[in-house]
Amino acid sequence: MVEWTDAERTAISTLWSNIDVGEIGPQALSRLLVVFPWTQRYFPNFGDLSTPAAIAANPKVAQHGKTVMGGLETAVKNMDNIKNAYAKLSVMHSEKLHVDPDNFRVLAECITVVVAAKFGPSVFTAGFQEAWQKFLAVVVSALGRQYH
Ligand code: HEM
Repeated sequence: MVEWTDAERTAISTLWSNIDVGEIGPQALSRLLVVFPWTQRYFPNFGDLSTPAAIAANPKVAQHGKTVMGGLETAVKNMDNIKNAYAKLSVMHSEKLHVDPDNFRVLAECITVVVAAKFGPSVFTAGFQEAWQKFLAVVVSALGRQYH
């Protein structure tokens, strides 16, 4: 079981309460699709993903970015049991969507870049980054849990 310090819990809840999921989610998913273009293959019905501008303007990307952030909210609300909270989501990404789990890690990187750019170094301090990256590492591990 993952142990969280009080400082880590405070950092995650402070960051999360200041995150606009309708802004960060679309930006993070857009970055994933641009920086790691092979991830586009999982979204064949999303329409035009041909250029960074098309991706940024694509309403399906924006909508799904928000959905992913909804998944993160589940983790924020279940900090002490992320593994169980993600059991069904992990099965779905594995058995139905066949998403290679290494992509969870690269999406987490994109989320961190977008959050860091949004808040800047005075809010996204090294201490906050430590807590945030630990949180996302737990999310990535939990999502990969049902793969075998
Ligand atoms: C669907 C969360 C990473 C591909 C979903 C859903 C959630 C979610 C909440 C909707 C589940 C439902 O409808 O019941 C997450 C989280 C991730 C993550 C929290 C990592 C932080 C990824 C990655 C990919 C991916 C890296 C592919 C590169 C998909 C696809 C769907 C989906 C294709 C179904 C989309 C649709 O047809 O509506 N994800 N996801 N996910 N996810 Fe993820």
